[in-house]
Amino acid sequence: MDLFAAMTQRRSARAYLNQAVARADIEDIIRYAGLAPSAINLQPWEYVVTYGEEKDRLVRRLTRAAAERQISCGSGASKPLPDKYLRRTRQAFQVMEPHFSKLGIPFNQFVEAGSCSFYGAPVAIIVTIDRVFPQIRYLDLGLSVAYLLLAAQAKGLATCPIGLITAYAAEMAEELSIPAEKEIALAIALGYADETSPANGFKTGREELSEILTWYE
Ligand SMILES: Cc1cc2nc3c(=O)[nH]c(=O)nc-3n(C[C@H](O)[C@H](O)[C@H](O)COP(=O)(O)O)c2cc1C
Repeated sequence: MDLFAAMTQRRSARAYLNQAVARADIEDIIRYAGLAPSAINLQPWEYVVTYGEEKDRLVRRLTRAAAERQISCGSGASKPLPDKYLRRTRQAFQVMEPHFSKLGIPFNQFVEAGSCSFYGAPVAIIVTIDRVFPQIRYLDLGLSVAYLLLAAQAKGLATCPIGLITAYAAEMAEELSIPAEKEIALAIALGYADETSPANGFKTGREELSEILTWYE
């Protein structure tokens, strides 16, 4: 698949087919993720893949944790967000809401429960970074994750980055024996999208170029 087509067609999938992903494909995707550039080639990203009974066990643990300590999705910003960001979020919700409401579950509940179960994807990928690194190295991690999402797209697979579950990082670390020196930065659901589900029936929009680009000439 052409890179531009993968970039244009990729979207987060929130319903998956009950279809396994070949181990070789998962390895390939992580290999591509590892091709991302990083400051002084530190390659600070590390990936933990879980599927089958191990993934189901993790989902049960996350679901329990979410029932005890409910977290809602948000920007994580330390101050009230400027209007333009609120507008973008509102627009995304407006695009998603009618589709999610077809499922008969309130939007927040769908996203919170869905995130904790990786939206039923057969594979969950956990992205970690050594705590020794400063926050700026998350930039490198993000580049690698973008490579991963596009590699999956190019293979006909679907993904959903899931940040919400980092609220349950302690439970995840225990379940997957992730050592204390590693920080869980993100999870990614991976599988074949169920295109018939209303949860996958939309594509979020993006700002015009003029909103994100400034020229000085
Ligand atoms: C760092 C990050 C964290 C995210 N966390 C979640 C999440 O917890 N649950 C979820 O359903 N989607 C999550 N998403 C997906 C975003 O909602 C999605 O990327 C955004 O709405 C744009 O839509 P698109 O990916 O379909 O283009 C996350 C995306 C990123 C990049």
